[in-house]
Amino acid sequence: MTLAGKTVLVTGATGFLGGVLTLRMAQEGANVRALARTPEKGAFLRDNDNITLVQGDITDAARMREVIQGCDGVFHGAVSYGNLEQQRRVNVEGTRNVVQASEAAKVSRLVHVSTLAVYGYDVRGEVGEDHPFAVNHNDPYVVTKGEEEVVVRVAKVPYSIVRPGGIYGARSGLWTRTAFLTARRNPTLWIGDGSGTPPLIYVDDAVDLLVAVATHPAAAGEAFNCANDPSATWREFLAEYAKLVGHSNYLGIPTPIIFGLAGVAALFDNPDRASRDIPKLARWLTRRVRYPMTKARDLLGWQPKTDLATGVKLCEGWLRERGLL
Ligand SMILES: NC(=O)c1ccc[n+]([C@@H]2O[C@H](COP(=O)([O-])OP(=O)(O)OC[C@H]3O[C@@H](n4cnc5c(N)ncnc54)[C@H](OP(=O)(O)O)[C@@H]3O)[C@@H](O)[C@H]2O)c1
Repeated sequence: MTLAGKTVLVTGATGFLGGVLTLRMAQEGANVRALARTPEKGAFLRDNDNITLVQGDITDAARMREVIQGCDGVFHGAVSYGNLEQQRRVNVEGTRNVVQASEAAKVSRLVHVSTLAVYGYDVRGEVGEDHPFAVNHNDPYVVTKGEEEVVVRVAKVPYSIVRPGGIYGARSGLWTRTAFLTARRNPTLWIGDGSGTPPLIYVDDAVDLLVAVATHPAAAGEAFNCANDPSATWREFLAEYAKLVGHSNYLGIPTPIIFGLAGVAALFDNPDRASRDIPKLARWLTRRVRYPMTKARDLLGWQPKTDLATGVKLCEGWLRERGLL
């Protein structure tokens, strides 16, 4: 099945992943309704015959019904941050509105963008799609992304869920801008030997899986991990960015020193301060975890195509444009 000629709604279209997805869907010949809470942020989507910017907020149930009416498919990627209450209001209740509007419009597929973070940040070893969610996590993002999936799973329309790892590519704040700025420093200063494994995926590959699940019959009612498997290490990831500025120097601060300093700082610090989070962050950055991609391979014949060196090189133009390189 193809998406050409179909009408689809993309939520989060003005964001990083949703922007690339919207342009890709338009390129595939779909008629894309790009949901923009703030239409000025969608300037890069104008002047494309296959894209219509539609103003709307996912917390507005009536508006969601209007914009989804007549759609064949919905890609739901809008996300908000903040405290638990704020995230529940937008991420969970907003998702409920999108699900109910998709049911009313009888869409043939609702594709929901989740995250590998639903398993929590402490998991190690192999984490397949059946791994339990971290329901009592202290990060509202982890909790609400898990709760969103619960809402999607009772949808009375065919749905598919994609759980990406850290998505890098042009316009990525954390996984490209911040990672590049960290690596640019000569030597790159990092924790330990850098052998921890961030689950990474290049943005075009994440979009490719979203498009694949939208049309594949075997993807209905299923959730898929979405990351390169096995993942590169932090050291390898940062080294690719460092190559862009022509250095290969790495300096790892021994982890016992980080934990020791954080422990001492926490003794003298306000309990709400960030020093309390340093050991948690250090554990996250040094853990080794694998998110097997066997389900996407076996059910859909899908695998990520972009290796790390290629993906990071593809970020170069944007980093130059932004004056960072
Ligand atoms: N980036 C990653 O590394 C990563 C990794 C795993 C999973 N994901 C998932 O991928 C999806 C997209 O992430 P992203 O990083 O591309 O996000 P992003 O760049 O932060 O974009 C979020 C989008 O959601 C929109 N939005 C927020 N609140 C809204 C509301 N109430 N109504 C309508 N739209 C609203 C934003 O619109 P405004 O511009 O108006 O705020 C923006 O277009 C999310 O579901 C996220 O959980 C991302």
